[in-house]
Amino acid sequence: MLVPSLLSLLLVPATVPTVTAQLLFPANVPSTPDGAAQIPFHLTHSHQAGELDLSGPRIAVIGGGAAGSSAAYFLAHFGREGPGIETDVTVFEKGEYIGGRSTVVWPWEEQPEIQPAEEGEEPVECGASIVVEANKNLHKAARVFNLTLLDYAGEEGTMSIWDGTQFVYSESKGWGWGYWDLAKMFWRYGRSPLKVRSLVKTTVSSFLRLYSPAFISSGAFSSLSSFATSTNLSYPSTLSGLDYFTTEGVSPLFTTELIAAATAVNYGTPVGEIHGTGALVSLAATGAVSVKGGNRRIFEAFLGASEARLKLSKTGKVVEIVKLDAAKGARAQWVVKTEAGAVILSAPFHQTSISIHNSPLPTLIPPQPYVNLHVTFIITNSSSPSPAYFNLPPTTSMPKSIFASFDTPSAESSPPAFNSLNYLRQLSSHTSSKFGEGDWHVVKMFSKSKLSAEVLGEIFGGKENVGRSWEKVWLAYPKLKPIVEAEKELAPVRPDEGFYYSNGFERLISTMETETVASFNAVSLLLQDFFGYTPPASWAEWGEQE
Ligand SMILES: Cc1cc2nc3c(=O)[nH]c(=O)nc-3n(C[C@H](O)[C@H](O)[C@H](O)COP(=O)(O)OP(=O)(O)OC[C@H]3O[C@@H](n4cnc5c(N)ncnc54)[C@H](O)[C@@H]3O)c2cc1C
Ligand SMILES: *[C@@H]1O[C@H](CO)[C@@H](O)[C@H](O)[C@H]1NC(C)=O
Ligand SMILES: *[C@@H]1O[C@H](CO)[C@@H](O)[C@H](O)[C@H]1NC(C)=O
Ligand SMILES: *[C@@H]1O[C@H](CO)[C@@H](O)[C@H](O)[C@H]1NC(C)=O
Repeated sequence: MLVPSLLSLLLVPATVPTVTAQLLFPANVPSTPDGAAQIPFHLTHSHQAGELDLSGPRIAVIGGGAAGSSAAYFLAHFGREGPGIETDVTVFEKGEYIGGRSTVVWPWEEQPEIQPAEEGEEPVECGASIVVEANKNLHKAARVFNLTLLDYAGEEGTMSIWDGTQFVYSESKGWGWGYWDLAKMFWRYGRSPLKVRSLVKTTVSSFLRLYSPAFISSGAFSSLSSFATSTNLSYPSTLSGLDYFTTEGVSPLFTTELIAAATAVNYGTPVGEIHGTGALVSLAATGAVSVKGGNRRIFEAFLGASEARLKLSKTGKVVEIVKLDAAKGARAQWVVKTEAGAVILSAPFHQTSISIHNSPLPTLIPPQPYVNLHVTFIITNSSSPSPAYFNLPPTTSMPKSIFASFDTPSAESSPPAFNSLNYLRQLSSHTSSKFGEGDWHVVKMFSKSKLSAEVLGEIFGGKENVGRSWEKVWLAYPKLKPIVEAEKELAPVRPDEGFYYSNGFERLISTMETETVASFNAVSLLLQDFFGYTPPASWAEWGEQE
């Protein structure tokens, strides 16, 4: 059970075509030449009890990733279904596409980030690659928007875990979690794998309660610390993964050899440094799939269905936000180029370079370092990594997936050069022919620093075997240090009146799904604040009971 889940977890499926965003959003209102949207602004909030002004505030959503696109959609959905407001939402995205850290590339092309004119090779995921069974909003979105989910597929082969000196774990044959592997596991780790499996199961089932009507209808959270407590995610987040699993009776050998590989590939962080909740999430990979055409299609669909106005690229970059103090009897206003009655910030605050005026909110959002992650795609004609690089004899049959552990004693003195290496697929003969004779493969690697041409040459058995390599550097996810003082270390959901922040949630869990969960919570809080309305059910379970 663990290895397939580790596997699927780790693995990094491929996919899809790109989007010219303009084509996808016929609902967009054209912008004026200076980029400012021209929308009449209603500032008429009745504060008399019992009277609802359904014209609603104008709302600015900053960021068009998982969090921002779902916030726009939830506002439209719950505004209409609930208090009956037609929301007036503008989404600002400074990038060239919708999806943020969920995006695809064509690394065999000269310009990997641009969709080639000629249809052919499916693109590969460059950021978030895996949707798991417990991701209820993402699964519902795939269903509602008619997107196709593909099971994880990489090249057939085995998986090993590398600690910089040796393979500390090797699967004996392909996808199987064969009898022999089980026996080896039990021999080396005792009951630890079973214990871990049960901890992961319990975590997932208490997490799933957050979609239930009982949980949702009790209201949104303004404190992530209380959210973490009421979903039982709190305790594991106070310890390192290693300490947490050890306390729960898991053998440190198992944690540093196997769980370490899952935290390294998922969060680029050793299991001795990541918090226990991050480690548990790294292992919760049951039912890993990805969206055909790219996971970002979900976020394009959310945005399209929200009918929000979209400002993309240069005109979508927010540089400054000014809070206008409330006139007597009215609410404060936020000026985001154009004026808005509410703002949902759906990007990591400290990376937005937005300067905020007249609000204390910058001091209320704790600084949050992110993991610098190099995602490198290698086009190679070597059918597997070179045994020599891994200190093995030349005839060794090599794995096609290698995950690193940074937590074994030898990893500490001589750390692996990469976090993960995966053969994604063999390229079509048409694409291969651009690189030379024979079969060429696309391989994806994660690492903390740049992989030089020399190192890639060593890993793939010679520089002549590397047809091309291309890297994208991400600030991928927060450094998930254990959380000691939750109220201080977790950002407020509403750091100021009328201002909501989705990405504080990443300090607890950073995934596409949980960013939609964070946005649902922010939207629910906004609807509560402005209309006294609380959604009776989560979107995932909306209309599903009958
Ligand atoms: C390599 C990698 C692998 C990952 N693997 C997985 C995985 O398998 N499964 C999973 O669920 N998660 C995975 N994640 C994590 C996941 O990608 C993130 O948790 C999630 O996508 C974050 O969504 P978001 O909308 O909160 O932020 P983002 O996607 O970062 O969106 C924020 C957006 O705001 C925009 N923005 C920033 N500043 C401004 C500004 N001033 N004005 C206007 N726009 C601005 C940015 O351009 C960006 O598009 C992975 C991440 C990486 C990098
Ligand atoms: C859903 O997608 C399939 C395959 O792409 C297509 O044949 C079908 O018409 C679509 N249905 C809807 C309701 O969009
Ligand atoms: C949280 O954990 C406690 C103790 O382990 C358990 O009794 C409770 O049911 C759990 N809550 C949820 C939401 O699963
Ligand atoms: C890969 O291609 C290069 C250039 O065509 C060639 O020199 C090299 O021998 C090939 N390697 C393998 C393993 O086929």
